[in-house]
Amino acid sequence: MSHMNIFKNAEQLSNFLFQKKKNGKQIGFVPTMGALHPGHLELLSQSIRHNDLTVCSIFVNPTQFNDPEDFKKYPVTIEGDIYLLELAGCNVLFLPAVSEIYPEGTNHLGKYDLGFLETVLEGKFRPGHFQGVCQVVQRLLEIVLPNTLYMGQKDYQQSLVIKKLLSMTRLDEKIKLKVLPTVREADGLAMSSRNKRLSKEARSLAPIISKTLQSIKESIRSGKTQEIIKKGVIQLESAGFKTDYLQLANAETLELIKDWDGQLKIVVLAAAFIEGIRLIDNILIN
Ligand code: PAJ
Repeated sequence: MSHMNIFKNAEQLSNFLFQKKKNGKQIGFVPTMGALHPGHLELLSQSIRHNDLTVCSIFVNPTQFNDPEDFKKYPVTIEGDIYLLELAGCNVLFLPAVSEIYPEGTNHLGKYDLGFLETVLEGKFRPGHFQGVCQVVQRLLEIVLPNTLYMGQKDYQQSLVIKKLLSMTRLDEKIKLKVLPTVREADGLAMSSRNKRLSKEARSLAPIISKTLQSIKESIRSGKTQEIIKKGVIQLESAGFKTDYLQLANAETLELIKDWDGQLKIVVLAAAFIEGIRLIDNILIN
C-alpha cells in the first residue's frame, strides 16, 4: 500500500503543494466531510487516474450545517477513512481543525451573492447552507490550488453553486471543475454518509426516493408537469417520508419547471426525511 501524507496545517500543505506544482505536477482535489463511501472513492479514483497527485480533505464544516442536531450526529469514521484513502492510492490527506480553516472565527465570514440559486430547493430549505459551503470551499481551494476539482452530481445544486463560486472568485481561470455521476447502492439508493444513520427499517424504505425519481424520468411527457409531481409526492409520503420538495428544474439554472416543452434539459430533484434523517437525490432527464 502506498504511503499517504497527512497534513493538519494549512501553510505546510500549501508549501508542499507549491513545490510539487513548480515541478510540473498536476494536482487533483476531492473535498469531503469524511465517513467515506464508494461515491467519494469514485471521485478519488478519477482524480488519481488523471493527475500526478491527489489531495483529499476531510473536514466537517460547522458553517454549512443549518441544523445543529445534524452537525452533532454527522458520522465520523476517521480511522476507516484513512485506511480507505491509502488503499485507493490517495497521496495527500488534509485533516484540519476548525481553527485552521477559520483562524479568525466564523462570525465575520464573507457573504456570497449566489442570486437565484440560493432561493430555491436546498437554498430555500437550508438557509445559510450554501454560504457555509462557499466559505469552506473557497478557503480549501486557496490552500490547495488544484488544477482540477472533483465533485459529485449527488449534490446537484452544490455543484452549480461551486461553479458560480469559481467564476465569481475568478478561480475558474486556474481550476477546472469535474462533476461525476452519482454512485448508487444495488437497490438504487444514492450513496451518502448520512445513510450510515438509517435504521434497518428506514434503510429498506430509502430506495423509494430514487425509484420515484426514476419513474418520473420514465413517464414524463411534454406539457404540464403538476400531476406527475403530485403522484410522486404521494408515493413518498404514503411510504412515510416527509418531503421538503420534489421538483423538476432547468438543469442549468434550476428554475422550476411547471410546463415542459419536451426539449429543455431538466433535472428532477428531491429532498425528504425518513425517521428525521434528510436524504437528497436527483436524476437528469434528457
Ligand atoms: P460530502 O457530502 O462528504 O461529499 C463530498 C463529495 O462527494 C461531494 O462533491 C459530493 O457530491 C460527492 N458525493 C457524495 N455522495 C456521492 C455519490 N453517491 N456519488 C458521487 N459523488 C458523491 O459535499 C460535501 O461533502 C461538502 O459540502 C463539501 C463540498 C466537502 C464542503 O464542505
